[in-house]
Amino acid sequence: MVASGKGGSGTSTLTVNLAFVLANTGARVLVCDMNVGLRNDDIYLGMENRVLFDLGDYIGGVCSLEKAVIRSDSNENIYLLPCPQGKDVPGINSQSMKEMFDKLRSAFDFIIIDCPVNIGKFLEITAENADAALLVTTPDFVCIRNTDAVSRKLESKGLRNRVFVINKVTETTLQNEPSLEWISQTMDIPLAGIISFDEDISLCNNRGVPAAQEGSLYCVKTFLEIAARIVA
Ligand SMILES: Nc1ncnc2c1ncn2[C@@H]1O[C@H](COP(=O)(O)OP(=O)(O)O)[C@@H](O)[C@H]1O
Ligand SMILES: [Mg+2]
Repeated sequence: MVASGKGGSGTSTLTVNLAFVLANTGARVLVCDMNVGLRNDDIYLGMENRVLFDLGDYIGGVCSLEKAVIRSDSNENIYLLPCPQGKDVPGINSQSMKEMFDKLRSAFDFIIIDCPVNIGKFLEITAENADAALLVTTPDFVCIRNTDAVSRKLESKGLRNRVFVINKVTETTLQNEPSLEWISQTMDIPLAGIISFDEDISLCNNRGVPAAQEGSLYCVKTFLEIAARIVA
């Protein structure tokens, strides 16, 4: 699962870029968008016009899991389970999610779950089903404090395997507080990578082709290194 304590940190960006890096090694990767009501990953993956059914339709019995999960046109190893836009998933609970993930686990090498920014039911349900967490923070005090709070929430749910990345780092942030050392000490879990603020990443998101696929060499290398550390 990929999570953060503040919107805009780069949770969805990390999700789709890690998906591409892992898919390019030949692994079958499912991106599961848990931002119920306000979905993201269909646009970042260039699959907006492909979405017919979603997580809510599957949980509500409207369609099968096979119908809800769609395959990317640009990378045959990437699949997306979109969540509903503008509405909730009323019947969702730990049991229905566990049953769903049990089915999905056997079909994919990696399932990357893009989490919403709150300590609500979707974060809790996801934590109960996840093997590992990637926490995303920016070098901002508010984001660090809240991402640490999310990390501790996951710990309380028994999710010990947690690492974090610092996103949107610039020359200026490096020369000011909070320092990278302070961020690391505060987060108190292993650092899996540092990502520069780079307009290329945003432009790629808008084009629906993640930077790990088509961005600068620097972007590709950064996401590759983070994926390698997480999977190791
Ligand atoms: N390293 C980066 N450099 C520049 N822009 C970024 C970077 N990471 C993310 N963004 C941009 O920041 C915005 C928020 O990113 P997003 O991944 O949607 O955040 P979240 O899912 O945490 O709300 C998007 O416009 C995205 O393109
Ligand atoms: Mg997001």
